[in-house]
Amino acid sequence: MSVESLAAAECIDVAAAECADAAPVVARTKAEVRAWVAEQRAAGKRVGLVPTMGYLHDGHLSLIDRARETADVVAVSIFVNPLQFGPAEDLDRYPRDLERDLALAASRGTELVFAPSAADMYPEGEPRVSVLPDEEIGGRLDGGARPGHFRGVLTVVAKLFGIFTPDMAVFGQKDFQQAALIRRMALDLDQGVRVEVAPIVREPDGLAMSSRNVYLSPEERERARALSRGLEHGRALFAAGERDAEALRAALWKALEVPGVQAEYAEAANPLTLEPVATADSGTVLLVAARVGRTRLIDNAVLS
Ligand code: PAF
Repeated sequence: MSVESLAAAECIDVAAAECADAAPVVARTKAEVRAWVAEQRAAGKRVGLVPTMGYLHDGHLSLIDRARETADVVAVSIFVNPLQFGPAEDLDRYPRDLERDLALAASRGTELVFAPSAADMYPEGEPRVSVLPDEEIGGRLDGGARPGHFRGVLTVVAKLFGIFTPDMAVFGQKDFQQAALIRRMALDLDQGVRVEVAPIVREPDGLAMSSRNVYLSPEERERARALSRGLEHGRALFAAGERDAEALRAALWKALEVPGVQAEYAEAANPLTLEPVATADSGTVLLVAARVGRTRLIDNAVLS
């Protein structure tokens, strides 16, 4: 069932028993999560974790499905993490709807939803110790545009890994730099979590699914297509033999020259280090970010 149909039906057109059977356990505290994980482990089950900030869409649901492929039980965390928002960012208006999220998580058979308060996640307030990426992978692109963002992301994901000790965790490719950093963190800090990255899920017109798409007016929604169109064009150029990364970057910038779209970056980069490349190759990632009205959107495509 898709987000749209479930949101419209609010579980009404799902057989009542199926709906109730699938209702996840809702944990509000770390202690409840730890008790649940201990039970799963005692039963020999592998735990999969899908960290989210809620307001679930089909992209998130695909992450749950992906986790289900390797884990025996799947947990979804829903936490709008204040630590990853800058002072002038959208923390207060970030969309939230726990009831809707629970129904959607249930529709994919999620076993547990962890929905903590900020006070439970950060009982002492701002943490004194946090996870900071190096400048090379974390300082450019979104790290450059949103100072402190990745410190907030990595710190909360490290906490979630500590709380759940999951066997595996799934993140979306749409946040490409975030996923690269989380992979690196799991490796560098020996967290023992297999990090998987699932493909971007797109709207029929190409726009990458994002909880922030809800901010877009119909006109902005139309303009926002410039990002995916630019990436498609970059892909087509590569398929036609273009290997000069500068030419690909120029094509991305050009595609973002749309009234009402403020391009932030357009890059062709190494997928592991996020360093700009001179020559594009299979595996090179094209990344774009732009503001459409007040909404900051990002998107990417891996060349193959
Ligand atoms: O991608 C997100 O939704 C968030 O950055 C994450 C990974 C859940 C951490 O808050």
